[in-house]
Amino acid sequence: MIALGIEGTAWSLSIGVVDEEDVIVLENDPYIPKEGGIHPREASQHHSERLPSLLSRVFEKVDKSSIDVVAFSQGPGMGPCLRVVATAARLLAVKLKKPLVGVNHCLAHVEVGRWKTEAKNPVSLYVSGGNSQVIARRGNRYRVFGETLDIGIGNALDKLARHMGLKHPGGPKIEELAKKGKDYYLLPYVVKGMDFSFSGMVTAAQRLYDSGVAREDVAFSFQETAFAMLTEVTERALAYLDLDEVLLVGGVAANKRLQEMLKIMCGDRGAKFYVPPRELAGDNGAMIAYTGLLMYKHGYQTPIEKSYVRPDFRIEDVEVNWD
Ligand code: ATP
Ligand code: FE2
Repeated sequence: MIALGIEGTAWSLSIGVVDEEDVIVLENDPYIPKEGGIHPREASQHHSERLPSLLSRVFEKVDKSSIDVVAFSQGPGMGPCLRVVATAARLLAVKLKKPLVGVNHCLAHVEVGRWKTEAKNPVSLYVSGGNSQVIARRGNRYRVFGETLDIGIGNALDKLARHMGLKHPGGPKIEELAKKGKDYYLLPYVVKGMDFSFSGMVTAAQRLYDSGVAREDVAFSFQETAFAMLTEVTERALAYLDLDEVLLVGGVAANKRLQEMLKIMCGDRGAKFYVPPRELAGDNGAMIAYTGLLMYKHGYQTPIEKSYVRPDFRIEDVEVNWD
């Protein structure tokens, strides 16, 4: 069985085609803001302008008639972007006379990670621009055991980077700067129960920079503090749930220092640590295609009249009836 998936919840516009074994095609055409952060309307205009050519690129590599299922990211995400993607997916499904499956974006991050690593029943740390959650499966649902009380870690890194004169996306630039950091400056470490918060830290780090602290040291101090918070909550989830696998997913999963901290924590507890290949860890169409395929095989289908976008779609809302 072959599924095509369209991802476009925010800046990323990506189409993937997968079968049960592997990714067949993955084509990306991301929206990159000229300056500042992501503007929802501009991102959605980018998506509607570029979707036709992106689809043509995909269909140059894979025969249209081989597609069995059309999947799309139904939410969570930016309303205007989601609507463009949903419209394209509906049209395609009708044109190809194939079933449509609306996919939860967070679920797709976790499922593609389980597919492409050996993780079976992990505690997943999902860290991206808009989201930061600690997720694990309990019975027939994935549950969020801890999450950010304000902004995602990726957004926090991007905001700090922008304040220090660096272009979007800031995460990779902060990582490079942090490698050269020498002095650690104390920043607010905010963990409340199983939740965490980053916006106060961003303000404090921006003040450090304004007071003359070197960018390298600000980046280093920020990463050490924020990643320690994420590692602490992930460890607590492992302990409470008595699990022994950690899966790191989302765009921020590319960060080597975060990987290292989690690896050390897992090593200390005798747990295994997994991270999917980079192109499948951040937003991508293949994760939507794969999750759509999985859901379709387990009886899911989204009728056109129920294919409305869900900007606040939670992972807990999906009943999981597969292993
Ligand atoms: P979502 O819709 O799930 O919130 P997203 O739109 O933010 O996802 P992703 O590809 O999952 O997209 O993540 C992008 C984020 O990852 C950006 O904030 C970017 O700065 C961050 N990022 C990318 N590489 C790194 C890195 N090496 N270190 C830290 N952050 C990174
Ligand atoms: Fe994402």
